[in-house]
Amino acid sequence: MRHLLSAADLDHDEIVEILDLAEEMAQVLHRPIKKLPALRGRTVVNLFFEDSTRTRSSFEIAGKWLSADVINISAKGSSVSKGESLRDTVLTVAAMGVDALVIRHQASGAPLQASQWIDAHVINAGDGMHEHPTQALLDAFTIRRHLRAETPDVIDFAGRTVAIVGDITHSRVARSNVALLRTLGANVIIVAPPTLLPSGIDSWPVEVSTDLDSVLDRADVIMMLRVQRERMSGGYFPTPREYTVSYGLTRDRLAKLRPGAAICHPGPMNRGLEISADAADAANSLILDQVAAGVAVRMSVLYELLGGADETVPTKEHA
Ligand code: CP
Repeated sequence: MRHLLSAADLDHDEIVEILDLAEEMAQVLHRPIKKLPALRGRTVVNLFFEDSTRTRSSFEIAGKWLSADVINISAKGSSVSKGESLRDTVLTVAAMGVDALVIRHQASGAPLQASQWIDAHVINAGDGMHEHPTQALLDAFTIRRHLRAETPDVIDFAGRTVAIVGDITHSRVARSNVALLRTLGANVIIVAPPTLLPSGIDSWPVEVSTDLDSVLDRADVIMMLRVQRERMSGGYFPTPREYTVSYGLTRDRLAKLRPGAAICHPGPMNRGLEISADAADAANSLILDQVAAGVAVRMSVLYELLGGADETVPTKEHA
């Protein structure tokens, strides 16, 4: 793997390899001293043109726990605010001897474009409404762990159903998750108001519903998405109240989920809009597990891209 630009670029075995390695990396979280020497001497730059809490900090922690040197650059506070272009910014950063560039940008396709300008490995940390592949990987890692609590030998999601609910139009998380979950064999149900379903949804390999209540008892996992008000330049429909009534994971709907069904949300959450506090904080909510998985999965991705054969492979024996 040279770059990680899209979840659709990964085949079944590549995904399972990343998840399995992430399981080994996750052992580090339980150690008092978390550093592994695998990426000593490598430099990772987090180049973020959009805000982030989870993705940027977990890439930073992941890189540091693998002993890479990690530099954070955000548009605010960089020469981007003086008008420097994406190309000049990427070439400038690459000229300093970077091994991997983790990039988040408001324009779909920006990481792909960057990968064509420089030799360093490029990781898509979210591009516009296009993709967020490491989010889909960490979601899969979290879901697989949840399933393994009952069925320890689960490898993929054949025969499982995941409902992805909410603002599908603006969601790069939904697009990456559909690709990744389908590759792992899951049935995916997309649930949204008609106004938040993207054009072309008919060609997605999913079932589509506008009726959340009819889906609640069918899903092994219900993944609630953030309503992305900042991307809705043309107004907001349905209204927040209407949205919550029809598409929010309310206390009443929580009670109608299949027993043992897991609740996911990529964050940040609009509590009280797409998800109630009762659901976000429920015993079957995996939302903080998703955050924790972000570090292990990003360690795995960085290692897959940057770890050479002569590097120290972190194994359970090292953990
Ligand atoms: N899920 C996610 O991408 O969160 P951040 O925007 O905080 O990185």
